Amino acid sequence: MTDKNHLTGMFWGAANKPEFLRGIQHSVNNLDVQVGIYTGDQLFTFNRNLSFLDDEAFMRSVEKNVHEDVERAILWRTSILLWGVRNGMHLEGDFVEGGCYKGTSVRVVCDTVDFAHCDKRYYLYDLFEHAPGMAHHAMPDHGNQLYQAVVDRFADMPNVVVTQGAVPEVLHRVAPEKIAFMHLDMNNAAAEVGALEVLFDRMVPGALLVLDDYGWAVYRDQKLAEDAWLAKRGYQVMELPTGQGLVIKR
Ligand SMILES: C[S@@+](CC[C@H](N)C(=O)[O-])C[C@H]1O[C@@H](n2cnc3c(N)ncnc32)[C@H](O)[C@@H]1O
Repeated sequence: MTDKNHLTGMFWGAANKPEFLRGIQHSVNNLDVQVGIYTGDQLFTFNRNLSFLDDEAFMRSVEKNVHEDVERAILWRTSILLWGVRNGMHLEGDFVEGGCYKGTSVRVVCDTVDFAHCDKRYYLYDLFEHAPGMAHHAMPDHGNQLYQAVVDRFADMPNVVVTQGAVPEVLHRVAPEKIAFMHLDMNNAAAEVGALEVLFDRMVPGALLVLDDYGWAVYRDQKLAEDAWLAKRGYQVMELPTGQGLVIKR
């Protein structure tokens, strides 16, 4: 049995956060076995193996690269990306992330798998800046310094290609021919469906597609648009407890 827990207080949407967290703590205190507990990122579960906490390479990379509470809270999601990347290592093609923001998730998985020394490329896309009226929401580090900061963050990995621009338009300028793993995380239905239009057919059989926002009620329009687009091609999305959506390319 695992002896590890992953406890964070990062939840969104509580009307009274202190009271909500007291409730979570109360529930934790009343568990008969204090192991395998995960709290945060809208998850409260216990008596789980939480196998990713035993993944030494992953946890070393997390310690090195994760500095913010929200990044820590989404560890389970990040471990799903790592699974997709490790699967993709055995396939032909490169990796894609649409909406990389500060590049933290990609940096965590790249260090875990020693990506600098493999024969693949990781294509990262983001606007990096936010202006009023844009479809995605602003985030704290958006600004005219962020693109260079992400380029610098991957300076030791020449096979990570960071591109500034709007998805899907930018994909006509820079994009891999074959894709072995794709993660879409743009909180923007039009951008994600646009990315599918350009890139889905380039995914090789067996490649995983992870849709970060798929299970979140607040992004339901995105899920509905993606469901409809994928259904026309005979695919159904698996909604994971992490809030991610998962598709396996045939
Ligand atoms: C939630 S963040 C991504 C977080 C990142 N995947 C991670 O795991 O750390 C969403 C990002 O999508 C980007 N974005 C939104 N619409 C976009 C578009 N049309 N083209 C490129 N990036 C976009 C935003 O600028 C934002 O940085």
